Amino acid sequence: MTDLNVGGAPGVFTRRRFFEQLMAVGGVSLAMAGMDALGFGFASAAEGPPPMAGGAKKTKVVILGAGLAGLTAAYEMGKAGYEVQILEARAVAGGRVETARKGFVDTDLLGNRQVCDFDDGQYINVGPWRIPYHHQSTLHYIKKFGVPVELFNNDNDAAYVYFEKGKGPLAGKAIRKGQLAADARGYTAELMAKVASKGDLDAALSPADRETFIAYLVNEGRLQASDLRYTGTDGRGYDVLPGAGVDPGPGKLSKPFAFADVLSSRAWFVLTSVAGWEQQRTMLQPIGGMDQIPKGFVRNLPKGVITYNALVDQIQQSADGVKVSYTDATGKKAEVEGDYIICTIPLSVLKSIKMEVSKPFLAAMGKVAYAPVNKIGLQMKTRFWEENHQIYGGHVYNDIPGIGTISLPSGDWHGKKGTLLGYYSFGGEAAKISALPPAARAKFAVEQGQKIFPEYAANFEKAFSKSWHLDKHNLGGWAEWSDESRKTAYPLLNEPDGRIYLAGEHLSYLGGWQAGAIESAWQQIAKIHARVHQA
Ligand code: ALA
Repeated sequence: MTDLNVGGAPGVFTRRRFFEQLMAVGGVSLAMAGMDALGFGFASAAEGPPPMAGGAKKTKVVILGAGLAGLTAAYEMGKAGYEVQILEARAVAGGRVETARKGFVDTDLLGNRQVCDFDDGQYINVGPWRIPYHHQSTLHYIKKFGVPVELFNNDNDAAYVYFEKGKGPLAGKAIRKGQLAADARGYTAELMAKVASKGDLDAALSPADRETFIAYLVNEGRLQASDLRYTGTDGRGYDVLPGAGVDPGPGKLSKPFAFADVLSSRAWFVLTSVAGWEQQRTMLQPIGGMDQIPKGFVRNLPKGVITYNALVDQIQQSADGVKVSYTDATGKKAEVEGDYIICTIPLSVLKSIKMEVSKPFLAAMGKVAYAPVNKIGLQMKTRFWEENHQIYGGHVYNDIPGIGTISLPSGDWHGKKGTLLGYYSFGGEAAKISALPPAARAKFAVEQGQKIFPEYAANFEKAFSKSWHLDKHNLGGWAEWSDESRKTAYPLLNEPDGRIYLAGEHLSYLGGWQAGAIESAWQQIAKIHARVHQA
């Protein structure tokens, strides 16, 4: 079990095995909470876009894909004097950075066509939705393009934890995360403090350290200093709230759960001393939707740089240049030529496109799996989680199969309506729920959410769901490298094959994050620039 701790040493498990184990114990949401332990556990390392001084020597770069990697490459290379042209399969820029709001259309590979009919002002980020404060590369463009941001509450002690597969009186009950944390850590501190005070830890502690250790435990667990007992604490809340005047007096503290009940609930699985690196408690989000970031890029690119609705059919290269054949919106075939290609098409899609690259390069592209990932936004007619439960943003961690994370919106506080994230899961569970028609996905999400919030079904108005593995332009949420393919295939794909350079979140150790796409683009444009200046 200790190996599963989110602070555990990277490299012990493959990411997939790690997540499977997390999910087996605690459900998808916990796997998400522990995401950074493997593969996701690398800091955003780049300090800024590469310097691109010295001109572009009349070089033209064809960029495939207007997601964050392609937009970054076009913006930076354009500024440095390169001629750039982006071919984008969709009718809009942004790639996976999709925000569903009124009028947004999604047709999945099963033929389900959804037109979002949320009320004006309501939206759900079906792709990226949170930005750790240390993803400075993403924040670099947010600042540059003046995209207003707000805090994204990634950890809310007031939010519920709901574990139905545990045992005892807390199983299948919505309990506040802060209550669980106070009790689990309070009782643990009590045990340790008592053991230490009897001298049973003297082999590990000097007499001075023993006293300090006990003082730390009293503080950490909010113990009574006199007898080192945990009897509850104000941080877990009140049964009768304190207020003004003499009535209702000083308030009545809530009673702690029994330690045995906390343990058998299995809900403690949501607790860690510190958040995982990528799952910081302090996150940010653009106000009004994540698509404000690609919109910022588009505003700052010269008009006509992006050719929309261009489906790439073939990628060719010779000693002198590159050529890309594509089908345009009207079904007409067209071609574009240049000196280099930056290809950001997800490998899941790219491996079926005719491409002139070496055999080992092609083989490497087939070595990575893409994760089934799905999300659903549920528009609710009131913000009952704020009004009735005083939950302002954050996640409802749970072990309901197929639900993963339920999340409350971090914005538009006290608005009339609200759109919450009804499920966010990946792997087999995501594949199973996504196989249902959209109305059945919504029905499932509402029925399950009802277990936690009694107001759920009565407030539900509209839904919009996204299944990334069923999006023909992505065929998955993000790349899943195994330890083996990271060693063999990954380094090869980070290097150019002739005049073709790949970029995207899949070529980073920030997989599944916008920062990965941006920093991968930074890396590849620096290589092209160096090559142009060597020639
Ligand atoms: N970056 C993705 C998230 O925040 C995985 O959920």
